[in-house]
Amino acid sequence: MIAVTDSGVGGTLIAEEVRRLLPDVEVHYHADSEHFPYGDRSPEELVQIIDHNSGLLVEKGARLIVLACNSASVVSLSHLRAKYRVPFVGVVPAVKPAAAMTKTNHIAVFGTALTSASAALADLIAEFCGGVTVHKVVLERLAEAIEWDELARAEEIVAGKWREYQGRGIDVVVLGCTHYTLIKPEIEQIVGPGVAVIDSNQAVARQVKRVWEEVASS
Ligand code: DGL
Repeated sequence: MIAVTDSGVGGTLIAEEVRRLLPDVEVHYHADSEHFPYGDRSPEELVQIIDHNSGLLVEKGARLIVLACNSASVVSLSHLRAKYRVPFVGVVPAVKPAAAMTKTNHIAVFGTALTSASAALADLIAEFCGGVTVHKVVLERLAEAIEWDELARAEEIVAGKWREYQGRGIDVVVLGCTHYTLIKPEIEQIVGPGVAVIDSNQAVARQVKRVWEEVASS
């Protein structure tokens, strides 16, 4: 069984894509609504939560765990990989493809407070975004609005924040929180046709398939 976990509905598109790529494999979706939202927590607190959940998922029979959450992945992947024998696939903001795509050399990463401040994101930017200005945009309460299915409020939050950034020549927006990918069409509408909006969902699902094939054959 493959377990896909997030604080709420954010990872559902990744789970859907994994089910499409691996139709014969049991995919269990775990929404940790008890600890939602993850993105406002301290890294230490979130590592503890994810560690605890991972132990439970392994007990349930998970042979591969997908952290379908940027906030959880940027703080806990190395800890989990050192502690557990099951493989973990995580999701991190797609700054590498964004840096390759931008023509203006300005990209934005939409994320939670935790992801935006993380060392993991800073490392990715240092590795892949030489010569590119990366605007880290924290969208307060956006994951909540999406979790509670408050689309009008979600659009207001994005539009309000985008007004602060739209004069800066940004031509690629990276969705650095899986919840945001659920309103990708609305975000595309707000930032307009000259700005590409990208996420890691498909790439993560393809990676899950590759890792599962190794797990299944071992
Ligand atoms: N879906 C999570 C992410 O990708 C965050 C949502 C939350 O704050 O719980 O970062």
